[in-house]
Amino acid sequence: TTQLEQVTEVITRLQNKPGALLPILHGIQDKLGYIPTDSVALIAAALNQSRADIHGVISFYHQFRTTPPGKHTVEVCRAEACQSMGARQLEAHAKSSLGVDYHGTTVDRSVTLEEVYCLGNCACAPSVRVNDEIVGRVTTEKFDQLIDELRS
Ligand code: FES
Repeated sequence: TTQLEQVTEVITRLQNKPGALLPILHGIQDKLGYIPTDSVALIAAALNQSRADIHGVISFYHQFRTTPPGKHTVEVCRAEACQSMGARQLEAHAKSSLGVDYHGTTVDRSVTLEEVYCLGNCACAPSVRVNDEIVGRVTTEKFDQLIDELRS
C-alpha cells in the first residue's frame, strides 16, 4: 500500500468521530512517522475544513512532523532535574555536533533530534532517549559514543 492509501485508511476510520482532526493527525504520524504534505488536502476534504485550517493545526503542535524523521530519534530531556545536572550543555553539544536544531534531521538522515520534558529517569540525570531506550548520566562524551553506535 502506498503512503496515501495508508493516509486515506486513517482518515476513513476516524473522520466521523467528534474532534476527528487531532486523532487523524496522530494516526497518520504513528503510521508513517510524519504527515506528508499531500495528506492535507485529503484531510481538509474529509472534514470539510480549509487546507489553511489543517496546516494551522499541524504547525501549532510541535510534535507533528511534516518531513520524514531520520533513521533514529534522539530525545534530550529538558526538564528541571536534568537541567540541574547539565542538560543545557548537553543539548548545546547535541545541536552543534549533529548540526541540527530540535526537530531537525542530520544531513545523512541518521538522526532526528527532539526535545522531551522528563523521561521519568531524573535520578540518573541528565537523560536522553535513543529510539525506545532511556539512557542516563549522559555526558557529552557518552552522547558522542551513542551517536557513533547509531551510525555504525
Ligand atoms: Fe529529565 Fe526527569 S527531568 S528525566
